[in-house]
Amino acid sequence: MPDGQIIVSGASRGIGAAIALDLAGRGYTVVGLSRSGNVAAGRGIACDMTSETAVRDSFAKIAAGGAVAGLINNAGMHIASPSAELPTEEFEQVMALNATSVMVAAREVYPHLKANGGGTIVNIGSFFDKSGVAENLAYCASKAAVGAITRCLAVEWAGVGIQVLNVAPGYIETDLNRDFLTNDKVAAWIKKRVPAGRPGAPEEVARLIGAILDERIPFLTGETIYLDGGHGINH
Ligand SMILES: NC(=O)c1ccc[n+]([C@@H]2O[C@H](COP(=O)([O-])OP(=O)(O)OC[C@H]3O[C@@H](n4cnc5c(N)ncnc54)[C@H](OP(=O)(O)O)[C@@H]3O)[C@@H](O)[C@H]2O)c1
Repeated sequence: MPDGQIIVSGASRGIGAAIALDLAGRGYTVVGLSRSGNVAAGRGIACDMTSETAVRDSFAKIAAGGAVAGLINNAGMHIASPSAELPTEEFEQVMALNATSVMVAAREVYPHLKANGGGTIVNIGSFFDKSGVAENLAYCASKAAVGAITRCLAVEWAGVGIQVLNVAPGYIETDLNRDFLTNDKVAAWIKKRVPAGRPGAPEEVARLIGAILDERIPFLTGETIYLDGGHGINH
């Protein structure tokens, strides 16, 4: 088990809440970030991940309390719009949280991880990163960027013992998509389209993150690990 605090962004609900709970259950010291500061487990700090100063200040506050061993870049958002009418502001809003904040948080945690002899960064991407999904241009572009950011950071930081991974979930039932997934038509489509026959649970993503941290295999770096019940590879 890595020695030091694990920072989880978007830890107030959904996948981030499950990650915070899972890591706390494994004995990690968890610090959760969300705009409200409410988190499912561990210490909570109010931090808008799209604000560079808020991220820098939060990380400094966390590091003042002890070593930092990892960052789970989970906070994300989804907006769907037809591409022919996609407002630039909407594209930029999605990119700001889903992609830019991933880069900023990684950059700002870097000195703290380095000071602790290395560490692990796990970005939460999406299996939409390689798909063409109607009315999802901004989301797909942002998650493709997460894959690229992961690869570049992994290559640059392996030498200082920082492992960077991208965990890319398929459909996971959370607040982000509950209305969509529980719609009868969509539920029937998921049953047919996803080889596993169901959406995933936030706890399944959380267990993968817990296993990555517990096992600590730094030679595994830069990869996108899909956790989608076989959806993305299904013909
Ligand atoms: N659910 C899925 O099917 C699915 C599939 C693939 C990938 N993902 C990815 O998994 C991640 C989590 O998704 P989810 O379904 O758990 O979403 P969710 O239920 O909507 O939760 C989003 C979390 O992010 C936080 N957040 C939102 N904006 C923030 C900001 N500006 N600064 C700080 N925190 C912010 C929210 O807390 P506050 O509102 O308190 O700030 C909340 O804790 C996202 O990156 C998403 O793209 C989800």
